[in-house]
Amino acid sequence: MSKKPLRAVLVGFGNVGRKLAAMLTEERDRYPGLAELALRPVAIFTGRHGAIVNPAGMDLGDALRWYKEGGGFPAAPMTVMDALRLLDYDVLVELSPLDIAQRGEPALSRVRAALEQGRHAVTANKGPAAFAYRELAELARRKGVRFLFESAVMDGAPVFALRSALSGCRVKALAGILNTTTNFVISRLERGESIEAAVRTAQRLGFAEADPSLDLEGWDAAAKTAILANFFLQADIDPLRVERRGIAGLGAADVARAAAAGRRLKLVCRAWRENGAVRATVAPEEVDGGHHFAAVNGKGAALRIETDMMGPIWIMQEDPGLADTAAGVIQDLLAVAAGRQGEKNGK
Ligand SMILES: NC(=O)c1ccc[n+]([C@@H]2O[C@H](COP(=O)([O-])OP(=O)(O)OC[C@H]3O[C@@H](n4cnc5c(N)ncnc54)[C@H](OP(=O)(O)O)[C@@H]3O)[C@@H](O)[C@H]2O)c1
Repeated sequence: MSKKPLRAVLVGFGNVGRKLAAMLTEERDRYPGLAELALRPVAIFTGRHGAIVNPAGMDLGDALRWYKEGGGFPAAPMTVMDALRLLDYDVLVELSPLDIAQRGEPALSRVRAALEQGRHAVTANKGPAAFAYRELAELARRKGVRFLFESAVMDGAPVFALRSALSGCRVKALAGILNTTTNFVISRLERGESIEAAVRTAQRLGFAEADPSLDLEGWDAAAKTAILANFFLQADIDPLRVERRGIAGLGAADVARAAAAGRRLKLVCRAWRENGAVRATVAPEEVDGGHHFAAVNGKGAALRIETDMMGPIWIMQEDPGLADTAAGVIQDLLAVAAGRQGEKNGK
């Protein structure tokens, strides 16, 4: 693999963006597997904390230090869209927040713009794949570039990477506990805490969405379910077409009633084929104490994949943190770098 740096436009330099930058610079010695990956931003954009652009490329560690020391970057010298169209770069790394009301925008248009320019796009933001997976995947295929979003569901756990390992299998159904915040909040309710206090803790720890209704009303889970349905079941749905009920209305009494019956409340995402179509749901369910879902505690997550050839396959995730999310982005960047090396070798 080439050590030639990937030239990147980074959009979003929040919890995940800065953790990614830290892992690739000041924390790098802890991760020998990163030896072959070098990222050289030509631009870094934020929402309210300015931007920095250097068409020649800049040192990622310097950029992280400037951001921390200055509390942000200077005012943006150009728009994100201009940067994506005018600068020379290999990959867009899109790490801005999910916006359901805007149907995944502005991230979706930015991913589309990068792909149209023949650049790869890597994103932890669920919006692009939840609202336009089919269009963007087809665009990427036509342009001969990658559209990757491993960290959009279960962080760096290999969810989308599993597709190639399941070659020959047809996925029939998926079920999962996929929203960290609601699972964490329910676990805290079981310990007698209020929803509000549990959400505040989740926000302080950096994994709750800035707008808690995205988690509590099941929108984040619906976005993940839509991505999974689009990717594994060839659906063409978006989060608004997922039948959705969140946990906002749940309280200690609901949790206690489930516990008294030897069950646990969980926000469960499902997608399956039915009468030639794909159905997708998100809803609180009481799961039996012996079920794998009942073993998913706190920030954990789980995904059950049913195929036509094999018994159900499970991916379980225990206590992920920001490094897990950044690791998913890193896996995608390594895939882009490996592809570039493959092209060079005439593969
Ligand atoms: N945190 C996690 O554990 C986790 C896990 C999986 C996936 N994700 C996804 O990863 C993405 C980033 O998460 P995060 O925790 O890093 O979020 P965050 O801390 O809220 O950071 C978001 C970043 O995006 C910037 N931003 C906001 N609106 C923007 C816009 N319109 N254009 C350009 N930049 C904009 C923000 O700038 P300002 O600060 O200046 O507003 C900030 O730099 C989200 O889509 C999230 O759903 C996060």
